This record gives sequence, structure tokens and C-alpha cells, in this order.
Amino acid sequence: MPVQKECPILSVERLNADAISIWLECGELAKAAAVGQFVNIKCGEALLLRRPISICRVEDTRLNVVFEVRGEGTAWLAARSAGETLDVLGPLGHGFTYPEGKVLVVGGGIGVPPMLNTALRAPAGAIACLGFRSAERAMLVEEFQRACEQVYLASDDGTLGVHGFVADIVDAALTEHPEVAAVLACGPRIMLKTTYDVCRRHGVACQVSMEERMGCGIGACLVCACKSADGAYRHVCKDGPVFAAEEVCWDA
Ligand SMILES: Cc1cc2nc3c(=O)[nH]c(=O)nc-3n(C[C@H](O)[C@H](O)[C@H](O)COP(=O)(O)OP(=O)(O)OC[C@H]3O[C@@H](n4cnc5c(N)ncnc54)[C@H](O)[C@@H]3O)c2cc1C
Ligand code: FES
Repeated sequence: MPVQKECPILSVERLNADAISIWLECGELAKAAAVGQFVNIKCGEALLLRRPISICRVEDTRLNVVFEVRGEGTAWLAARSAGETLDVLGPLGHGFTYPEGKVLVVGGGIGVPPMLNTALRAPAGAIACLGFRSAERAMLVEEFQRACEQVYLASDDGTLGVHGFVADIVDAALTEHPEVAAVLACGPRIMLKTTYDVCRRHGVACQVSMEERMGCGIGACLVCACKSADGAYRHVCKDGPVFAAEEVCWDA
């Protein structure tokens, strides 16, 4: 059950020019969080709607979120300091399901943070494929290297890892690790689609975390409704954000 509570900020740290990491003391909310879930954070009095941010890590009752400044809400969040509190609603959504066996976690850009929790908790171990715009925009790479058996890296400009797309390193990782039982991915829609295409070629199951604009975050307002492959509409906030890739209507 999601709870709403005022959570003290323990630390605020800039990870690169765009990304900010906040650790919160969340009590039972943190303990209840499953991989791939998110929290909905109130961003000041001026903004009516909360902003959804994925759970990056959980350590006992402490919960970590990592975000980029996109607009008014995330700019307000980025200006917070340790000692203040945040009004947090969560944990929310339907997260990743582990298969029996090793997972390949795939993250692109700001889709990277939620995959750290997913790698850290993988019962049979994890390999990671991470994509960034450049070495300067990379984040959490050492944390993934500690959590995973192997980490493949790609960047748009070639300053970190392979010069190219995330799907290229997913292809390499699945070729070198045929023991991978499922691919779990979060990132831009085009990255998710190309990752799914590679998974189909390798015959490996794929789950994707979808990003949609949200209102309530709890299935009550329809803002996040999106079309599935079977033509039905699903709530990304409640039925997702994680879906089996074959359930997603990729042409929508
Ligand atoms: C389930 C979920 C998990 C998320 N996890 C993270 C995370 O871990 N880290 C992170 O940095 N961001 C995450 N996001 C995106 C984050 O919620 C938005 O960046 C944030 O709501 C923008 O709020 P704002 O007030 O700063 O900007 P706004 O002024 O609301 O918007 C600024 C720009 O961002 C676009 N935008 C706003 N919300 C979304 C959205 N949900 N998806 C795509 N584009 C959007 C708008 O169209 C606009 O162009 C997540 C979104 C969802 C749905
Ligand atoms: S955000 Fe309101 S129904 Fe999903």
C-alpha cells in the first residue's frame, strides 16, 4: 500500500551537469519499495501535481532518487538541501519481475538510475548495458560495476565505451552471455524499442519501464493512459510503469 509522508532529506549531491541525487529517510515506505517502482513527490506549493521519480536505491529505511532538471518541478527539487523535508507518496506502480536466472539490466540516460536497484537486488546476478550522451553525462557507473558481473558502456559521442547505440551493446552482451534469462530496460522509447528488437532476435524475454506524463500517479485521473498491443488502454502509473515488451503498442 502506498503511503504519503514527509521525508527528511539526508543528502543532496550533484552527479554530473544534469543529474542530482537525493537520499531521503522514508521509514516503512522505503522498506516496502520493489524494483522498478517510483515515488510521486510534491514539488513546492505552486505546483498542484506531484512529479514521478523512480527509486534508484534503497538501504534499509533510506531511499535514493536521481533526477534531471526538466522544468519547474525538478528545478524546485534540485534547490532543496539536507535537513528539509519532502512530501513523498509511494511506493507506486508495478515494477520489474525477476526471472529464474541472470538478468541483463539496460538503462539509457536518466533511465539508468532505476536499473541500479534492479541490478543490486537481482537474485541470480546481473549484467548491465548503460548508454549516455557522453562521458561527462555519465552517472553511477562505479556503482553498477560493483553491483554487476560485467558492465557494457556506450555513448553517443564515443567518449565513453562503444561509440553508438545501447542496442549495439545489448546485442554484444546477449551474444557473450547466452545464460541471460531476461532483459529489464528503462530509458527513451526509441532505446526500449530497439532493445526489444534485439531481444526478439536472441529469443530473450524483455520487460520495459515506460515514461508517460502523469497526474495522480495512482490510477484515478487517466492522464497516463496508453494503448497496449491488444488495443486496450492501460494506466502507466498503476498497470506499469513496467510492462512485458510485447504488451506495448510500439507504433502509438
Ligand atoms: C514512472 C516515471 C518515473 C520517472 N523517473 C524519473 C527519474 O528517476 N529521474 C528523472 O529525472 N525523471 C524521471 N521521470 C520524469 C520526470 O517525472 C519528469 O522529468 C518531471 O515530472 C518533469 O517535471 P518538471 O515540473 O520539472 O517539468 P515540466 O515543466 O512538467 O515538464 C518539462 C518537460 O518535460 C516533459 N515531461 C514532463 N513529465 C514527463 C514525463 N513523465 N515523461 C516524459 N516527459 C515529461 C514535458 O513534456 C516538458 O517538455 C519519471 C517519469 C515517470 C512517469
Ligand atoms: S497518473 Fe492518474 S491515472 Fe495514471
